[in-house]
Amino acid sequence: MTTTKEQPALLRYQPTGLDAAPEVNALLESLGLGGFAADGLTAFGGRNDNWAGSTRSGDQVFVKTVAREPDGTSPELDRALSFETLAAQLPAAAPLRVPEHLGTDRAAAVSAYRLLPGARSGSEVALDGDFDDELCAAAGRAVATLHSLDPGGAEVDAGEAPLPPLRWLEAFPWSAAQDRSMAQIAAWKLVQDDAEAVAALARLRERERAAPHTPAHCDLRFDQFIVHEGMLYLCDWEEFRIADPARDVGAFVGEWLFQATYSVFAPTGDKDAPALGFDLSHEEIVERGSAGLRRHLPRVAAFWRGYLECRTPDPELAERAVAFAGWHMYDRLIATAQAHAVLNPVARAAAGIGRTLLLNPAGAVATLRLGSPR
Ligand SMILES: Nc1ncnc2c1ncn2[C@@H]1O[C@H](COP(=O)(O)OP(=O)(O)O)[C@@H](O)[C@H]1O
Ligand SMILES: [Mg+2]
Repeated sequence: MTTTKEQPALLRYQPTGLDAAPEVNALLESLGLGGFAADGLTAFGGRNDNWAGSTRSGDQVFVKTVAREPDGTSPELDRALSFETLAAQLPAAAPLRVPEHLGTDRAAAVSAYRLLPGARSGSEVALDGDFDDELCAAAGRAVATLHSLDPGGAEVDAGEAPLPPLRWLEAFPWSAAQDRSMAQIAAWKLVQDDAEAVAALARLRERERAAPHTPAHCDLRFDQFIVHEGMLYLCDWEEFRIADPARDVGAFVGEWLFQATYSVFAPTGDKDAPALGFDLSHEEIVERGSAGLRRHLPRVAAFWRGYLECRTPDPELAERAVAFAGWHMYDRLIATAQAHAVLNPVARAAAGIGRTLLLNPAGAVATLRLGSPR
């Protein structure tokens, strides 16, 4: 959708009917906001069901549900709420901004937040070329502030982050194979057949275990950022835990690298160029790839500058972040393959770059502009 005052740029969907989810209005009523007004009710893209709109009190809210275990508990919700507990210590002017949490119905695993009306998703901002140095520096400051939060006595999940799943790198359980696309199985096979990549991922796990841990987002992608009135917000805290902070830095770098890879094959506007650029020559691919990197690496540098303004990382964080950026390329490859029958060559190219980073992270710290400032 186009960006106008009336039409926010966030991708919008038809929300699940509120009749099928009575817990949503029940929560809003209990918060004294009144249920959703039917008019203008919408939903944004995401893994979980969500609703955005005005309530009968005239408040604009965003409500989302999260997954529950068969026994009714929800580790996802627990993690998100533990983040809210820690975030309460942030001063109003802190560089980490999050949508205001209004309340939660734990039993139904549904939470309400204040809506940022007319906001744009970070993934749209990035695709439009508007995730500029300023916003990247703001992202760096936000992530460093997150990593500096004091868990104090709060109960925060300190269990290992599930990805990359080392067991799946050896063999794929049949139960998990059944609901995956052919392309996704091909993507897993790409990793499984590569003994060096598997060994590098195991090494990364070891380094991660030995590293100093901090509060971390652990699912940082462009679409978890929201840009509202020029300010950057971070959302979606269900993977929040005490973990290696290099995960978040690596994910942000990986997002830019993934985007740079895809830009190699994006239509150029030249009407004689092939639509998807699949028959480019080797030289053209290298040339476009280098150009994409030249465009995007200053964004990474700005992010890192912002990060260092707010926090002194442990001496090996940058190196681990490069390796996590490598994993992020595989992770995106696997995620995007879900919708396809055949693994496309762009995805394979992304995995190739990810592999280079995984195998020799120290060798790419300077190239990726994650060195210490002079
Ligand atoms: N308070 C909010 N105001 C406006 N948009 C929001 C708000 N919270 C989330 N969003 C948008 O909704 C999308 C989905 O929310 P998110 O919490 O990431 O759910 P999921 O777990 O389904 O990914 C986000 O990517 C963001 O673009
Ligand atoms: Mg999300």
